[in-house]
Amino acid sequence: MKEVKPDQQSSSSKKEQVEAMFDSIAHKYDFLNRFLSLGIDKGWRTKAMKALKGKAPKRILDVATGTGDLALEAMRVLKPHEIVGLDLSEQMLSFGREKIKAQGLDGKISMIKGDSENLPFADHSFDAITVAFGVRNFQNLEAGLREMHRVLKPGGQVAILEFSKPHGFPFKQVFNFYFKNILPVWGNLLSKSSNAYTYLPESVQHFPEGESFLRIMKSCGYQSVSAEPLTFGTCTLYLGGK
Ligand SMILES: C[S@@+](CC[C@H](N)C(=O)[O-])C[C@H]1O[C@@H](n2cnc3c(N)ncnc32)[C@H](O)[C@@H]1O
Repeated sequence: MKEVKPDQQSSSSKKEQVEAMFDSIAHKYDFLNRFLSLGIDKGWRTKAMKALKGKAPKRILDVATGTGDLALEAMRVLKPHEIVGLDLSEQMLSFGREKIKAQGLDGKISMIKGDSENLPFADHSFDAITVAFGVRNFQNLEAGLREMHRVLKPGGQVAILEFSKPHGFPFKQVFNFYFKNILPVWGNLLSKSSNAYTYLPESVQHFPEGESFLRIMKSCGYQSVSAEPLTFGTCTLYLGGK
């Protein structure tokens, strides 16, 4: 798999670049998510959390939690005892903490700085693990997926949302035009970032999806894996068990 970094010319690691990039766009992240996805991302998060309902997870880890939207949706849909959100970017977390406090959920959802590739939890700690639009940003995808598998309880489940590419006409053409011509221009402009929204389509372009991603999940120990394309395949919901 080709490593796509926010700045391919820089010698700093993907992890350092990703952390700095999300720190710098955190103040505009939620607004741009809604604006650039036309609000569709909200429905994807709801769908992912409903997929975990059957397991009624009590303790959930939301990896790459960012500003906490998936953690908040997990609390609304699944009503677990506790959610831990973990992210590399302190700025993203700090916006997330404000949202959680505003909803009076700070006793239920904690937000901690950490690295998905080296999780600060004992084996078998969580009933469910969720990741939305995070795995594509991992420096080492397999290391992150293996760590998540390690801290998942036997019988637990992961739900992973990630962008993918629609294949059929005309969605493929519309998506490509939007992703390559509109999203980078508006995203970089509004976030005042030189590369965050150029990195987004480039990283999606080279990221394994569908069957390829399921093969990687299986090689990292997950069982009963499945992939469900959403909104003409612009996003895919991956599920896996332990
Ligand atoms: C596109 S944002 C997604 C945030 C949130 N899950 C959402 O759905 O809005 C990706 C997040 O992944 C985080 N991230 C990337 N690599 C990470 C890693 N190795 N460990 C923890 N967080 C990571 C970034 O800091 C960023 O906040």
